[in-house]
Amino acid sequence: VNTALRSLAPHASRRISEALASIEGAIDLTVGYPSYGPPATFSATVADLAGRAPASGAPRPFDLYPPGRGTLELRTEIALLYEREHGLSVDPEAEVLVTHGAAGALAVAILATTEPGDELLLGDPCYMLYEPLARSLGRQVRRLPTVAAEGFKISAEALAATAGTRSRAVVVNSPANPTGAVYGRDQIGEIVAGATDLGLTVISDEVLDCFSGDSPLSARACARGQGVISVNSLSKRFGMTGWRLGWLLADAVVAEQALKAQTFLSLGVNHLSQIAAAAALDDDAANLEVAEHAAAVRANGEWLAAALAGLDLSFLRPHPPAGGFYLWVEVDREIDPPTGSSHGEEMAARLLEELGIGVVPGIAFGPSGSDFVRLSFAGRRRSLEEAVERISRWA
Ligand SMILES: Cc1ncc(COP(=O)(O)O)c(C=O)c1O
Repeated sequence: VNTALRSLAPHASRRISEALASIEGAIDLTVGYPSYGPPATFSATVADLAGRAPASGAPRPFDLYPPGRGTLELRTEIALLYEREHGLSVDPEAEVLVTHGAAGALAVAILATTEPGDELLLGDPCYMLYEPLARSLGRQVRRLPTVAAEGFKISAEALAATAGTRSRAVVVNSPANPTGAVYGRDQIGEIVAGATDLGLTVISDEVLDCFSGDSPLSARACARGQGVISVNSLSKRFGMTGWRLGWLLADAVVAEQALKAQTFLSLGVNHLSQIAAAAALDDDAANLEVAEHAAAVRANGEWLAAALAGLDLSFLRPHPPAGGFYLWVEVDREIDPPTGSSHGEEMAARLLEELGIGVVPGIAFGPSGSDFVRLSFAGRRRSLEEAVERISRWA
């Protein structure tokens, strides 16, 4: 078997969620799964279309392979979304590729812009799938350290200091998973300018953009469309992680290569869900709900950070997030993990075994996460209250 894959651990939060399934009354704060579901328009369109029996000998359009780039209707709705939210003009014919979620967009973005042996620059910590994805595609990874005092953000200076001769791309993620960092327009602009000077492609993961607080930023819009790949999806925006619908926006020449990569891998994205997604993105009510959901998620995050801080536990110190739906919690270094295990892993194990609460050890996000755990606050307030109540038994 492939030695790169063999050397990589399975997806950390999936592993813990599976362990939780066997614990009675467990609270799962591992995954970023919103408690709201897809917009009514989406579900109604799926039900309506799937319920129509195919006429004999005449397949329904979605029974057939989709257009490789995605349906033009969905690409047009995505372009309109960027015009509405970011004032960015996007060519749906050439600059949009519909993908298998943001995860699929990241994979084809890496394939389209880097070669085996090239290096990807990643924040430390960063979303847990970037590194294994890059390594499984034969790319190398170089980490850009971040610190709490600078809001866990990467910078143009860090890029210049860290990039090497094989570095080809940098991944920016705002709002960030796992830290909740949110970059400002100037910060994104400086990173894009710095990356351009160094000959690096910026891959901007904007999957949590609705949870940015005041106004979401798209790096491609900040760069006025040039040289930046923006990656996004409906997973969090519309609470439909299971439908695996995402996209990337890129310069036409890059989008063309990403299209080839995706075609070779999978021939395209589920046709029926594309038709329903276009209907949902065209529905004002569905788009209005996004802001309501985001406000509720934000309130959850503020509540959880304050409630944990209020317990005043020296061994669990939350860093209040600026956005996103994860809380990055620092774990006391006095905790004594067994040899070979980090403080965060030991804390996650105790939360699981003693309190039945699932969290992700920070080490899954990079070496700098070893003294942290990550809690998702995307779910219901009731679960967060119950989790805090259980943790308060340690006070
Ligand atoms: C930062 C980040 N990027 C990408 C993804 C994957 O998103 P999708 O479901 O659209 O593939 C996630 C999922 O949690 C995420 O947090």
